[in-house]
Amino acid sequence: MAKVFLTGATGFVGGDFLHRFASSAASKYAISALVRNADKAQQISSQYPSVKVVQGDLDDSQLVEKEARNADIVLHLASTKHIASSKAIQRGLTDPARSKPGYWIQISGATLLAIDEIKNARFGFESDKVYDDIRDIKEILSTIKNNPSRDVDNLVAGQDSSKVKTALIVGPHIYGKGRGPGNQRSVQAPEIARVTLQLKEGFRLNEGKNSWSYIHVHDLSDLFASLVDAAAETKPGLWNDEGIYTPENGSLTFGELSEKIAAEAKKQDLIPEGSVKKVLDAQGVDALSGHASILWGTNAVLGSSRARSLLHWKPSRPSLEETLPEIVRIEGQKQSNRL
Ligand SMILES: NC(=O)c1ccc[n+]([C@@H]2O[C@H](COP(=O)([O-])OP(=O)(O)OC[C@H]3O[C@@H](n4cnc5c(N)ncnc54)[C@H](OP(=O)(O)O)[C@@H]3O)[C@@H](O)[C@H]2O)c1
Repeated sequence: MAKVFLTGATGFVGGDFLHRFASSAASKYAISALVRNADKAQQISSQYPSVKVVQGDLDDSQLVEKEARNADIVLHLASTKHIASSKAIQRGLTDPARSKPGYWIQISGATLLAIDEIKNARFGFESDKVYDDIRDIKEILSTIKNNPSRDVDNLVAGQDSSKVKTALIVGPHIYGKGRGPGNQRSVQAPEIARVTLQLKEGFRLNEGKNSWSYIHVHDLSDLFASLVDAAAETKPGLWNDEGIYTPENGSLTFGELSEKIAAEAKKQDLIPEGSVKKVLDAQGVDALSGHASILWGTNAVLGSSRARSLLHWKPSRPSLEETLPEIVRIEGQKQSNRL
C-alpha cells in the first residue's frame, strides 16, 4: 500500500483533496496528514478515521522531513511559499537510504506568471498572453528560473529526476465550495463579493480588462488524485520538466467578474444598483482586501493540455459564473451575521 503524506489538510485546497481522496481511495493508500491545531486534528480523526493525523507545524523541519522520508508520495498543499518545509520534504524524499525515488506534488500559484506586471505595478489591464503547460513549457520553466524569489517553485523545478519525481501545480483562480474539514472558502471571487456588499456597490480595478483562468476546487482535487495514482503506478513522462501543470476550465476578466457579482448582489436585494460605476486603483483595492491589486489586477490565462492529454483529466464542475449566486448568498449571509 503506497504511503501518502499531505500538508494543508484543514485548508481550502488541501482539505478538499483530503475529502476527495479519503472518501474514494482510503483502501488503496495509507494517508497521513500534518495538522497543527489540536481541535482540527480531532475533527479529522473522527471524520476520516483511516487518516493518520500527525500533529505539528510546517516550521518543525525535523518532523516534516521524517514524514516525507516515510512516505512514497508527498502532497505539499499548505503553502506555495514555505521554503523550510519544502526543503524538509526534499531531504526526506531524497534520503539515500530510500529504495526508490519519492514523489512530490507541490501547489504553486499563477501569480508566478504575472511577475512582470507585479514588478511594474500594472494592474487591471488587458494581455493576450496564454501559458499552455505543453506548448509553453520552456517559457514557464525559464520564468521560474529567472525569478529566484519564487524559491519553492525553483526548489521543485531544480530537482534531479533520478532522485525525486516532482509535479508543480500552478493554481489559477480556484473557486467553488471546498468539501474539507476546515476552510471551505476560496479567496478571489468571495472577496470581490464581500467588498461589493461592504461598499454597497460594484467596483472594478482600473480598466478591469485583465483575466485569470479558473478551476473548480473539486476538479483540482481530481487532478491531484490522478497524479497520486500515476505516482503509485510509477508512470513516466509526468514529472520534473514534464511535470508542470497549469489546470484551468475557462477564464474571465475581472471586470466581467465584478459586473456579474454586482448584478447578482442586486438580484438578491443586497445592493441597490446592479451595474459597476466605481473604479478603484491599486491602493484603493489593497485597502479593502489583502493583496487585492495582485489577485484581482494581473493576468494569468493558462492552458491545461498536459493533464487533459496525459492523465485524461476532464474538468466537469460548474463554471465560475454558475457558482456566483452561491458565493454572493454566502457572503451576504456572513455580512448580515456581522451586523
Ligand atoms: N485558494 C486559491 O485560489 C489558491 C490558488 C493558487 C494557489 N493557492 C495557494 O495554495 C496554498 C493553499 O491555499 P489554500 O487556499 O488552501 O489556503 P488555506 O485555506 O489558508 O489553507 C492553508 C492550509 O495550510 C495549513 N498551514 C498553514 N501554515 C501552516 C503551518 N505553519 N503549519 C502547519 N500547517 C499550516 C493551514 O492550517 P490551519 O488550518 O491550521 O491554518 C491550512 O490547512 C496557499 O499558499 C495559496 O496561496 C491558493
